[in-house]
Amino acid sequence: MAVNAQNATVIVDGLYKSYTDQKRVVGAVRGVSFTIREGEFYTLLGPSGCGKTTTMRCIAGLEHPTQGEISIHGKLVSSPEKNVFVPPNKRDIGMVFQSYAIWPHMTVFQNVAFPLNVAGIRNGSKEMRERVEEALALVEMEDYVDRFATQLSGGQQQRLALARALVRRPALLLLDEPLSNLDARLRDTMRTELRSLQRRLGITTLYVTHDQTEALSMSSRIAVMQDGQIVQEATPRELYRSPANAFVAEFLGVSNRIPCTVAETGAASDCAVDTSFGRVRLTSPGATSTGATGVVTIRPEHLRLHRTTATLPNAFAARIASISFFGEQSECQVEVNGVTLRARVSSDTEFAGGDDVWLELPAPSCRLIL
Ligand SMILES: Nc1ncnc2c1ncn2[C@@H]1O[C@H](COP(=O)(O)OP(=O)(O)OP(=O)(O)O)[C@@H](O)[C@H]1O
Ligand SMILES: [Mg+2]
Repeated sequence: MAVNAQNATVIVDGLYKSYTDQKRVVGAVRGVSFTIREGEFYTLLGPSGCGKTTTMRCIAGLEHPTQGEISIHGKLVSSPEKNVFVPPNKRDIGMVFQSYAIWPHMTVFQNVAFPLNVAGIRNGSKEMRERVEEALALVEMEDYVDRFATQLSGGQQQRLALARALVRRPALLLLDEPLSNLDARLRDTMRTELRSLQRRLGITTLYVTHDQTEALSMSSRIAVMQDGQIVQEATPRELYRSPANAFVAEFLGVSNRIPCTVAETGAASDCAVDTSFGRVRLTSPGATSTGATGVVTIRPEHLRLHRTTATLPNAFAARIASISFFGEQSECQVEVNGVTLRARVSSDTEFAGGDDVWLELPAPSCRLIL
């Protein structure tokens, strides 16, 4: 595969990794290719078991790939075909894993100093002290330098793990679900902190998560993985707006799925589909032949409710079955000729359960998946 190496920090090309598990071969990663550009925050997103950690471990050098090439900063670090394998400590990488394995019997200082020690910097030297202090300052942990790691809160332990990953000033940072064992509020805070630190340092980062909110809010680009393969690579906005298939749509939390049949294919990307409640006009590319069946997806926050139609296109007579309150927003269960759709509205809404309404599906927000 031709890869544009310009500005690329990591190139993964045709990566395969199989495990032999009680005589059965498990294809954990099956032909994955992607490029991470300098300074990017690149995320592998997907459900449990789809091969995210295996891909990351291959990049780190903790696994020997079955097939395919990996280059970091223009240097080939792994290629079974060419008999190349650069060990992890020679790859200039900092890592934080889900169980971030800070050492409880060591102080904060000793934890952060450890990678420097391994790299040959003398204990007690001025350089050692300065580098540790610098790394702790990055994560605002200078005041805790003499504490034992066990005397820290979850968020502080997480920051310590990050300081330890950054202390050698690696060219590449690998983060495998680093926030997953924090509580929801702390996770939110750390998400923002981590992203701003990454921007400030400009450090190229590969992030792994199964949490779509985390991926959408932090990433420059996202690769969605399913069953050992990448099914879509896009910016968060593109991914959210235009999921490539039903799996991605579902995984990103598209909840309204309306079965349909293509009725008209028009100029540019205009088309129309028939649903159980009528004909819906779309501006979604992909429909080339009438009679094809598929689904229209639309997000709850994109559906609109009206008292009257005037001359609105894509508006259908409907009834609000019920409304559930979720703080600032409420979710309506809207029934439209036997189909129930979810619509998000402001909690100040004038509508109530049992109301007859007009339900509008704005064409630019509808996506056709065939
Ligand atoms: N050492 C191993 N031996 C055998 N099979 C393995 C091994 N490591 C991973 N696998 C299998 O490879 C597949 C991918 O695992 P991987 O850990 O990469 O998934 P993941 O996407 O990181 O999942 P999660 O979100 O649960 O961490 C799984 O089916 C897993 O069972
Ligand atoms: Mg994993």
